[in-house]
Amino acid sequence: MIATISTGLIVAIIAFVVLDVFAVVFGLSFARAHKAQRAAASGLPAAPRSTAKPTSRRDFFRGSLLISMGVFLAEFGGASLAFLWPSLIGGFGSKINAGAVGDIKNQIQNTGGPVYVGAGRFYVVPYLGKPNNGVDYAALGATTEGVMALYQRCVHLGCRVPFCATSKWFECPCHGSKYNYAGEYKFGPAPTGMERFAIKVDSSGNLIVDTSTKFGGPPRGTDTINEPPQGPFCVAPG
Ligand code: FES
Repeated sequence: MIATISTGLIVAIIAFVVLDVFAVVFGLSFARAHKAQRAAASGLPAAPRSTAKPTSRRDFFRGSLLISMGVFLAEFGGASLAFLWPSLIGGFGSKINAGAVGDIKNQIQNTGGPVYVGAGRFYVVPYLGKPNNGVDYAALGATTEGVMALYQRCVHLGCRVPFCATSKWFECPCHGSKYNYAGEYKFGPAPTGMERFAIKVDSSGNLIVDTSTKFGGPPRGTDTINEPPQGPFCVAPG
């Protein structure tokens, strides 16, 4: 969270600096041109180094329009940069450090549920990496050290899929799709299981989740963990 706030602050500062530089440069240009015009009108010689021609009213308004467009483009560029920045330096769409894999596994064991990483839009779930209907996610790099990162997005129409603490399944509130603890399809309109991100453990023991690389979920019918719901569903069956 702290990293996210710092990033936003940095981007805002950069955007304002760019905007200010734009405004100052254009302002100085026009001030110089206007001065030359007044000098010409009064019959005085223009400043020695100025080569600016007298500015007509039409040129002045045209210039004002250009300034407005320049400011707008600077603001637009700053806003675009702010929007893209998380992808460039550690937000969704990049590699995310989810923390020490040992701590993650302890947390999973203590809470009985997945570890949710909002910045990366994924859950870390326990998983032993058996091939899924011929797809070996361990070989693809989607499982390691007994964990896997599931993309939170429902593969039906894209709603965020919460984890249900009673059933211990993922249950989509939009149209009732349900996935087991490994994100494998169980019920509802979803065409497959949940998607997974590429993961690895770095030399410091941190789980690095690459949210720019995702693998399609296992096809319907896949069940490699054989875990029925552990209690009542959170979302009524559709
Ligand atoms: S979006 Fe999840 S079931 Fe439709």
